[in-house]
Amino acid sequence: MSKKLQVGILGATGMVGQRFISLLENHPWFEVKTVAASPRSAGKTYEEAVGGRWKMETPMPEAVKNMIVKNVNEVEAVASEVDFVFSAVDMSKDEIKKIEEEYAKTETPVVSNNSAHRWTPDVPMVVPEINPEHFEVIASQKKRLGTTRGFVAVKPNCSIQSYAPVLTAWKEFEPYEVVATTYQAISGAGKTFKDWPEMNGNIIPYIGGEEEKSEQEPLRLWGHIENGEIVKADSPVITTQCIRVPVLNGHTAAVFVKFRKKPTKEQLIEKLTSFSGLPQELGLPSAPKQMIQYLEEDDRPQVSLDVDYENGMGISVGRLREDTVYDYKFVGLSHNTLRGAAGGAVLCAETLKAKGYITKK
Ligand SMILES: NC(=O)c1ccc[n+]([C@@H]2O[C@H](COP(=O)([O-])OP(=O)(O)OC[C@H]3O[C@@H](n4cnc5c(N)ncnc54)[C@H](OP(=O)(O)O)[C@@H]3O)[C@@H](O)[C@H]2O)c1
Repeated sequence: MSKKLQVGILGATGMVGQRFISLLENHPWFEVKTVAASPRSAGKTYEEAVGGRWKMETPMPEAVKNMIVKNVNEVEAVASEVDFVFSAVDMSKDEIKKIEEEYAKTETPVVSNNSAHRWTPDVPMVVPEINPEHFEVIASQKKRLGTTRGFVAVKPNCSIQSYAPVLTAWKEFEPYEVVATTYQAISGAGKTFKDWPEMNGNIIPYIGGEEEKSEQEPLRLWGHIENGEIVKADSPVITTQCIRVPVLNGHTAAVFVKFRKKPTKEQLIEKLTSFSGLPQELGLPSAPKQMIQYLEEDDRPQVSLDVDYENGMGISVGRLREDTVYDYKFVGLSHNTLRGAAGGAVLCAETLKAKGYITKK
């Protein structure tokens, strides 16, 4: 029997599910054992169920092509085969909340890409370089669920990854007011140009629910645990506008910041390039060696040149300069389906395994 942890992917046929399949193809610790999707796909082979919807740059891995897709709603049938699951299903929030807890109650840890549980007080929402200590809240969650090894852990929204790590690196200078405009790729909506031709040469100034997530979720990352619950931080105040742009992969953010302790530009750049956390310390398989790169050229970061920095797990920053209204402004870029979705979830799972939260059943 394989020594690797056996993994199931809920929502395996979708855009994020396909990313999980690609990322896990040669993973040293995790092996895809089961794929699950809606009742429409259940019973078909993975190749048949995906059909013409394969959206990755690399071919579909041979190992999954002939797997029979299970129905996400048949919890026992999926859970009995695996040590833990990644979740990337597109259902209503209430349905996702319920089904992810049902999986946890079968003693199957759930590492989720979905937003449904991001504000459940005893569910950790983690970027492993920023707040891995929030995983400690899992003990309270297990008490509530009545489980010994089952729990739900989530990663935050893709939009914040282009500036939340940057602001974290600058924490000691006490940023207190932030204005961010995000320019978000169409893959963030699970789409390519083939299935969203209206986006060619177009900009749409609205992404439902995105601004609230972009303003609030960083505060939860910077929060602390009190009485078995995560309490969000109350500073800095963040205001955002989120705009859909004709880019396939890569969310760019143009950001203005005020600091209580105004640093020099050199200090800010030094904090970015030296920023690292637990994944780097532990040498986790998906951890970028350097999480944040600073690019000196005036025309960087660019999506086409920089989105794949550190296999899509790193953040690229440029155009840092003093501002006349705020203290500083900069541009950040991250890969929305890698660092921002499946890759971020895989890094969470690696951290959870390294910390002993995910083990063989
Ligand atoms: N794309 C991103 O960059 C991104 C980033 C962060 C978070 N997310 C979130 O991640 C989730 C998945 O996003 P996506 O872009 O991968 O969506 P997607 O491409 O539309 O895929 C949705 C997946 O959910 C399954 N599904 C749909 N209805 C279902 C039902 N009633 N019961 C069980 N399974 C069902 C689909 O199966 P069938 O193929 O059988 O229909 C498919 O596998 C969403 O909640 C999204 O908000 C996406």
